[in-house]
Amino acid sequence: MSLFKRVLAIETSCDDTSVAIVRHDAWVEAVVSANQDLQHAPFGGVVPEIASRNHTLQILPLIEETFKKSGLNWSQIDGVAVTNRPGLVGSLIVGLVVAKTVAQTKNIPLIGVNHLEGHIMAPFLKDSEYAPAENFSFPMIVLAVSGGHTSIYRANDFSEYEILGVTKDDAAGEAFDKFGKMLGLGFPGGVKVDQLAALGKSDAYIFPRGLIHEENLQMSFSGLKSAAQRVVEKIHPEELPKHLPDLCASFREAVVDALLSKLDRAVTQTKIKNVVITGGVSANSRLRERATEWAKHKKLILQIPPLRYCTDNAAMIGLVGIRRLNKGEASHLTLGPSPSSWPQDFS
Ligand code: KG4
Ligand code: ZN
Repeated sequence: MSLFKRVLAIETSCDDTSVAIVRHDAWVEAVVSANQDLQHAPFGGVVPEIASRNHTLQILPLIEETFKKSGLNWSQIDGVAVTNRPGLVGSLIVGLVVAKTVAQTKNIPLIGVNHLEGHIMAPFLKDSEYAPAENFSFPMIVLAVSGGHTSIYRANDFSEYEILGVTKDDAAGEAFDKFGKMLGLGFPGGVKVDQLAALGKSDAYIFPRGLIHEENLQMSFSGLKSAAQRVVEKIHPEELPKHLPDLCASFREAVVDALLSKLDRAVTQTKIKNVVITGGVSANSRLRERATEWAKHKKLILQIPPLRYCTDNAAMIGLVGIRRLNKGEASHLTLGPSPSSWPQDFS
């Protein structure tokens, strides 16, 4: 079996359009992404039709830019990797159509990738500014926390993953965004909540930490959102600005407590020392600070990839794709989109 040296990778599962070229040793030759926050902001959330329409506008220029940035040409590309699950079907279709066209016209194999496997593998990516710690390896516990997902995985090896726990309702990023919307901070509100929280007291309000006392690794953020709503409704709109820092600090602390308590349980239950935090919410400054302290105290190897590999990106899809191609796997051109993972993706 010949070695696949480089793949072109395409990610369009939600509202980020991303293209990358990734080498077999996880080196990212180039990654270029375009987010659509401005287009979705007036609606306070991702509108699927707007997302797919923007993917169609952005994808071809992004491919061109990726080649330009990497200095490579088509003859140096051995395969094409594309996210085909889980995600918004209309968005996935855009990436799939482009990837299949590339596979056929360039006569190279196609490989469909599970987006969540991309997030799990992201810490192994490398570029001129990032590489995982030398002693970091499988098995690992992964907390993937974004606007669309909040899950804890056990990854025993490449392509051997187990879901240990997921949120029963809202994702943590979604909770931050809904809270931000309640406070009139715009969409997505996570970053602004984080910034305002830096000026407030985290014990000013006591918000619920969903399912924190349950032994299992399930999570929940809808109770927190409702509790916050009740508190905000009692504050006179004119008084709201002066309460924002304390509200944000208290809300942020509740989310971080809920996430870290479950991550701690996962590590205690499995005795695994390698831990990853990934997804857009890993940008949260308090989560980073507390997770770093926790890992030091517990003597864990904590890897939080740089934000460009934590948020939705094609580099992580390329890494999974090229490793699968090099294992002898490939997808048929009939590959379709799926809103959910395939049963065989996780045990
Ligand atoms: O991974 P991502 O870019 O997209 C997906 O949701 O898949 O994550 C975006 C999410 C949004 O919910 C955003 O509000 C949240 O990550 N986020 C943050 C911060 N930065 C981004 N949440 C809390 N604190 C932050 N600093
Ligand atoms: Zn994602």
